Amino acid sequence: MLTLIRPDYNAICIEGARIVAELVRKKPDCILGFATGSSPLGLYQELIRMHQEEGLDFSKVTTFNLDEYVGLPPGHDQSYHFFMWENLFKHINVNPGYVHLPAGMADDVEEHCEWYDKRIDEVGGLDLQILGIGSNGHIAFNEPGSSLGSRTRVKTLTEKTRQDNARFFESIDQVPKYAITMGIGTIMDARKLILLASGKNKAQAIKNTLEGPISAMVPATIVQMHRHATLLIDEDAAGMLTADWRVD
Ligand code: F6R
Repeated sequence: MLTLIRPDYNAICIEGARIVAELVRKKPDCILGFATGSSPLGLYQELIRMHQEEGLDFSKVTTFNLDEYVGLPPGHDQSYHFFMWENLFKHINVNPGYVHLPAGMADDVEEHCEWYDKRIDEVGGLDLQILGIGSNGHIAFNEPGSSLGSRTRVKTLTEKTRQDNARFFESIDQVPKYAITMGIGTIMDARKLILLASGKNKAQAIKNTLEGPISAMVPATIVQMHRHATLLIDEDAAGMLTADWRVD
């Protein structure tokens, strides 16, 4: 696990985009795993800049997203489908046929979750998965208590996560109660992980992730076991670390 502490949010996004771009250049038909939320937004902006100014080519890339709310149609402005198209896909030359997000409106959600994991395997597995981290230590929507070996499935969102995400909805009542999420085992199968954390509200979760024991109660701690995980953290998110994780 490589931990990179950088001065601010912008710096972690630039570094993260550099890692993604290097992979896309080396393996144009790579399989990328994307996340939503505020953490990866700056990284996506940098990828868009690289596409527009440097011709970074996404035409052969296949994508899978971590999660999606159950019950929100793809056109809903708070669905993760909508988020990904608005914030990344429509600005780059990704092939829409190669884009995968869990279907929050699937008739048979369980069957769909099984299909999603199978589809990842069929195309050769995730080369790189981008992650954010919840203030409670969740990754994707694997909330505290999630099995560390779990596969893609439906999870009930905790009150904490619903409160954290309420800022995007008119009221907390409108925040969905369930989501489809890649499992922790599914995420750990990715050949590389990048976890981005920025801001003081992530400092406790980052301390637990780096310095705590591996525990299902802090799902992000599992990244300690990954062979190629890079943690990109800004000074605020690193503020509670006791060990010196600084790498130049
Ligand atoms: C989003 C996701 C979530 C977020 C996490 C942090 O696809 O899987 O785990 O990464 O909730 O959210 P932000 O980045 O908004 O602080």
